[in-house]
Amino acid sequence: MRTEEARPVRLEDYRPPDWLVETAELDVSLHPAASRVRAAITLRPNGNGAPAPLVLDGEALNLVSLKLDGVALPPDQFVATPNRLTITQPPQRRFRLDIETVIDPSANTQLSGLYRSGAIYCTQCEAEGFRRITYFPDRPDVMAVYTTRIEAEKGEAPVLLANGNLVASGNVPGTTRHFAVWHDPFPKPSYLFALVGGELACVEDRLRTMSGCEVTLRIYVEPGKEQRCLYAMDSLKRAMRWDEAAFGREYDLDIFMIVAVSNFNMGAMENKGLNIFNDKYILASPETATDNDFERIEAIVAHEYFHNWTGNRITCRDWFQLCLKEGLTVFRDEEFSADQRSRAVERIGDVRGLRTHQFVEDAGPLAHPVRPAVYREINNFYTATVYEKGAEVVRMLKVLLGPENFRKGMDLYFIRHDGQAATVEQFVQCFADVASADLTQFMLWYSQAGTPEVVATGSYDAAAKTYRLDLAQTIPATPGQPSKAPMVIPLAVGLVGRDGRDLPLKLVNGRTIEHGVVTLTKPAESLLFADVHEPPVASLNRGFSAPIKLSTNLSSDDLRFLAAHDADAFNRWEALQTLATRLLVDNTAALRANGAAREDRGLLDALGATLNDGQLEPAFVALALTIPGEADIAREIGRDVDPDAVFAARTALRAALGKHLAAPLFDHYHRLTESGPYRPDAAGAGRRALRNTCLDLLAAAGRPEAVSIAARQYQAADNMTDRMAALSTLSLCDVPQRAAALEDFYSRYADDPLIVDKWLTLQATIPEPATLDRVKALTEHRAFSFANPNRVRSLIHAFALANQKEFNRADGRGYDFIVDTVLALDPKNPQLAARLVSALRNWRMLEPMRRGRAEAALQRVAAAPSLSPDVDDIVQRALTQD
Ligand code: PHE
Ligand code: ZN
Repeated sequence: MRTEEARPVRLEDYRPPDWLVETAELDVSLHPAASRVRAAITLRPNGNGAPAPLVLDGEALNLVSLKLDGVALPPDQFVATPNRLTITQPPQRRFRLDIETVIDPSANTQLSGLYRSGAIYCTQCEAEGFRRITYFPDRPDVMAVYTTRIEAEKGEAPVLLANGNLVASGNVPGTTRHFAVWHDPFPKPSYLFALVGGELACVEDRLRTMSGCEVTLRIYVEPGKEQRCLYAMDSLKRAMRWDEAAFGREYDLDIFMIVAVSNFNMGAMENKGLNIFNDKYILASPETATDNDFERIEAIVAHEYFHNWTGNRITCRDWFQLCLKEGLTVFRDEEFSADQRSRAVERIGDVRGLRTHQFVEDAGPLAHPVRPAVYREINNFYTATVYEKGAEVVRMLKVLLGPENFRKGMDLYFIRHDGQAATVEQFVQCFADVASADLTQFMLWYSQAGTPEVVATGSYDAAAKTYRLDLAQTIPATPGQPSKAPMVIPLAVGLVGRDGRDLPLKLVNGRTIEHGVVTLTKPAESLLFADVHEPPVASLNRGFSAPIKLSTNLSSDDLRFLAAHDADAFNRWEALQTLATRLLVDNTAALRANGAAREDRGLLDALGATLNDGQLEPAFVALALTIPGEADIAREIGRDVDPDAVFAARTALRAALGKHLAAPLFDHYHRLTESGPYRPDAAGAGRRALRNTCLDLLAAAGRPEAVSIAARQYQAADNMTDRMAALSTLSLCDVPQRAAALEDFYSRYADDPLIVDKWLTLQATIPEPATLDRVKALTEHRAFSFANPNRVRSLIHAFALANQKEFNRADGRGYDFIVDTVLALDPKNPQLAARLVSALRNWRMLEPMRRGRAEAALQRVAAAPSLSPDVDDIVQRALTQD
């Protein structure tokens, strides 16, 4: 059962804690079904006198004993329920509590608190999991110094880890048990607490920090998988170096540890000195992981490491400030990846992710500000808006203030707030201070939900040699926010001349444009550029300087011109995407009305020119040839969406592309054949991405040679990237080779759950009517388990999110399947169930028949008895009409 706290929680109700915790000494004796937790905490009133009573958070706890300053507390002086410990008359001074509880880690299927991942004991405390271990003021503004003693059977858990530095270890005399004591000198909130116990192997390395301290680095995994940790270790070292160079941030303990576990609700967790990872984001070798996996591992290892400063040293005052650590840390990991790989390719990837996940969220009933003002279940706010849009807001600060002032602001933030639990206001104030800037209006990015829409209209006056740019912004209504104020929108712009070079930017009124950025602050503004000697093509929102939807009056010719010449690589890609989106939206409408899809020769030629432009990075070309996904097209259409028509329009364009460019696609496929051994670096990954994209488009065009090439590539591949790509291409073709290859794949990798996940996802994403029954059958497969989140996500979330056509079956059976799964999962793992039910959130965008079926499916969830707060919150919001 969950906390029956007074919900909803509101930002405006924030009050500082009445009591602070100075030290927390935990003594955890691990046992599969009954682990004993002895917590000694010293509390002191925060300020002058704390009001009685003292209320500590708990969840599903059993109190064994309770002492105050060493003396057992009489039963009439406290009330203990599973969810709360109330001490009615606490002393109005510093005092010590000794709390003993017993918990059952093996029965913990929620994977929050102390639980078991296979035979390994581990913890997950963010956001409110610590209260499932002991009674505590479980809020991030209570920061304490922790000492953790762990005891376990030597045979069962030879490795015992916790936050901080190891201070003692040894045997428990006269028993088969042993112990370890860890001390973390940095005060931290309870959500960053962690401990691990189990049979684990490790790889070890060292790093000397910029001030000359030696740090031991260890990655712990299931014995036998050590070789698959080397890339993660390499990524960690590069991330540590980068944070020193890019932000002046150094590591601060003697040891940094990562533990990879198989059962984990999220990607990874930044516990101080002891990161715990979903093993999917640690384990990689050329034979088992794709280029994409390597890239994610590098980014997530860096992300969790970067939290040491942005999240741990400076944490969040309350959970409304979640973006303070998450948005900022995503921004930092994106910059790291951009520096390690290709900046343009990284940016395109990030923007694709933002559009696919965050724009959709922002356009539906779950839309919320980057800093929400109210929540009923905080677990439901680990969202694309908090993370990805939160990162965009930090990026805009950099665009607005310039790199020097941005760095100064970050430095000030680290100095001013080190050791504190801070707020978004305090963060932004640092930038206002260093740049003497007024960022009041900018704060709207944190409080107003919805994706701003900017309409840009350009016109050239040949006689006056001026170019006029009219800009207008609107922000759509979102739940609880019917009307909005205009925002600060930094637009990086260029005027591209006939020869492809940027013309100088000069405004008629003498206003200068600093580093090519114009900032829109009013509902509408006009800019008049002077001395424009030829008709330019405007390149707007370069590098996606603001997370907005932009519509322009650029013609198809203008877009093709930008695709070929823009100095900004992002906008070259964007121009092609815009052309493709326009075509796909039109064709979806045409197909829905039983008309014919039109062909856009200009677009096909522009894509062909991109393919044959020898100057471009292969990774960039691969992205250019990847046309917008079904969910992106649906979002662009916005209402009355027929997913079958969207699919048909997209399939037709892919086929046309493969047909029109068949000769160069074959050429590039053969030209890009690698000779040397596989290396997961960005350049090699880019060549493989382009080669595999060529093959996929040829198969989409129905070329029989493509199928045989794919079948051959599948067999001959010496790495998982090429093998998976070939299998994925085959899986989209209804050919006999498909079943054979899928069967072969399973028999090769049946013992490797992370690879079997790829196999599950492939089968769940085949866009054909048989898929739903195949997915249902796979839930009975011995490789599948509802208890492991990676399995569930690979099969079921993949079906609901990455197979728009079959999930949105006209007969509604896709929705019914998801609802049945949600209801079965909810009692066991509410966080996982809540994420799954979110797949139905944008039901109002659908055409009437599907809309009705999806709504009925959501109503069926809503009507179920005893939903978790997690699922209940999502369903209530999804169904509310604002
Ligand atoms: N804080 C983690 C991260 O972003 C994500 C997470 C949240 C993990 C909640 C577990 C639970 O790095
Ligand atoms: Zn994070």
